[in-house]
Amino acid sequence: MRDGAPRTTIRPAGAVLAILVLAGTACARPGTIRHTGAARPPATSTSTTRPPKPSTTIPGDASPGSAGLGDTLLPASGNGGYDVSQYDLAFAVDDTSGPITATATITATASQALSSFHLDFRGYEITAATVDGAAAATERDGDELIVTPATAIASGATFTTAVSYSGEPPLVKDASAPGDIGWLDADSGRFAAAEPNGAKGIFPCNDHPSDKALFTFSITAPATMTAAANGVLVGQEPDGASMRWRFEQAQPMATYLVQLAVGDYDVIDGGTVDDVTIRHVVVRNLDEAARQRLDITNDQLAFFEQLFGNYPFATYGLLIADAPPSFALETQTLTLMPASWLADDPAFFDIVAAHELAHSWFGDAVSPQRWSDIWLNEGFATYAEWMWTDHAGYETLDHLAQEAHAQAPEWRDEFGKVADPAATNLFGPNEYDGAALVLHALRLTIGDEAFFAVLRQWFERYNGQSVTTDQFEALAAEVSKTDLSGFFAAWVHSTIVPPLPG
Ligand code: ARG
Ligand code: ZN
Repeated sequence: MRDGAPRTTIRPAGAVLAILVLAGTACARPGTIRHTGAARPPATSTSTTRPPKPSTTIPGDASPGSAGLGDTLLPASGNGGYDVSQYDLAFAVDDTSGPITATATITATASQALSSFHLDFRGYEITAATVDGAAAATERDGDELIVTPATAIASGATFTTAVSYSGEPPLVKDASAPGDIGWLDADSGRFAAAEPNGAKGIFPCNDHPSDKALFTFSITAPATMTAAANGVLVGQEPDGASMRWRFEQAQPMATYLVQLAVGDYDVIDGGTVDDVTIRHVVVRNLDEAARQRLDITNDQLAFFEQLFGNYPFATYGLLIADAPPSFALETQTLTLMPASWLADDPAFFDIVAAHELAHSWFGDAVSPQRWSDIWLNEGFATYAEWMWTDHAGYETLDHLAQEAHAQAPEWRDEFGKVADPAATNLFGPNEYDGAALVLHALRLTIGDEAFFAVLRQWFERYNGQSVTTDQFEALAAEVSKTDLSGFFAAWVHSTIVPPLPG
């Protein structure tokens, strides 16, 4: 096994300056995220019941599923009483913006006897709803869709809900999300940016990362357009003047990681790296120099595979969208990145692209069980970003860690403990560089060999699952054969920043 010690390379003279200048503008740093788009009125809490409520037989023990999952930061996200195993999503799109029509078919298993259950869903008009083929009544309450099946669902039963809907994709605004989220559009086309709770603006779902599921997508769009979604392209069939694209995400995925791009995009074949198909989806007007910068993906993927283990999915690429320069997002197998970030600054692009790719292992394959565990996403991706920054010769890892260590007391003062962020600070510096610093301190405490064994085990053991900070602490202690209770108490559950070990 490689020890993972970063190689020291000569830094290109311009890059250091570029990074210093860009340090404050790196992805998702607060204060630099532009809030774009006009506020929309909140969804009205009307109760539309359609079709006419069928007579419901409720066994004595059946009760309504809860409206949330008890997430301390996003209590309305997710729903109780069932676990989704698969979403089959079919969309028809006429243009790069405007209304769409869709049907979401959701296969789930009841964890209690259900007289009714909730889905997270915002906007649109619902045109039909069934549970196991029988018409079901629906009711809206803010961003909750309450489904009452004709017959109550037995505990342990697997059931299929189909919801057909149409309308313009709504913007989702939330105090936890810097900027608009949901299914966004720009001149060149639509793209999804749903972290943390914007998937409900795209399809009815159990919108919480503790309930990962498999996905298939069918997108029917004018034949002049290109469609892309998470996973592998499994079909592309002409249908009159339209094209029907089908994608399959065969590994579990959290709802916030959904990607659905439809519009004036080109697909760039990036070859393969270790059997992983590299395909990028880019706005058509992107110049040749920018297109060529995408090749760095192949080197980054090989670099991270050596550190963390085999890339977890069958395909990877960047979705270069005409997005406002607000944030990049690690949408599973197809990272969203604003075109301006790729076009304007090669070094910045390189480093952010590394960060997003690293999320494939940490965030996508291994997902947070609760939003308060976000440091397991952002701290890990940022530490990977530091390792790439060092490897590529922009800045040494040691320097990045020293810098973070110097600023950490301020971050801890302002934002608190690393493992206890407020909803409004999910994407703050305490969870990015402040949490990467924790990993660096862990590395200095247990040594390179144990540290990289911990990272690899973390991924291997929990690939496809959702995890907690407690589970990471237990695994780190187990793999390093070290009592780390004092270490974690000081580094993630305290607001005092200890000196760096060594
Ligand atoms: N997970 C993204 C990144 O670091 C951050 C997205 C922040 N913005 C948002 N609306 N979720 O790489
Ligand atoms: Zn990130």
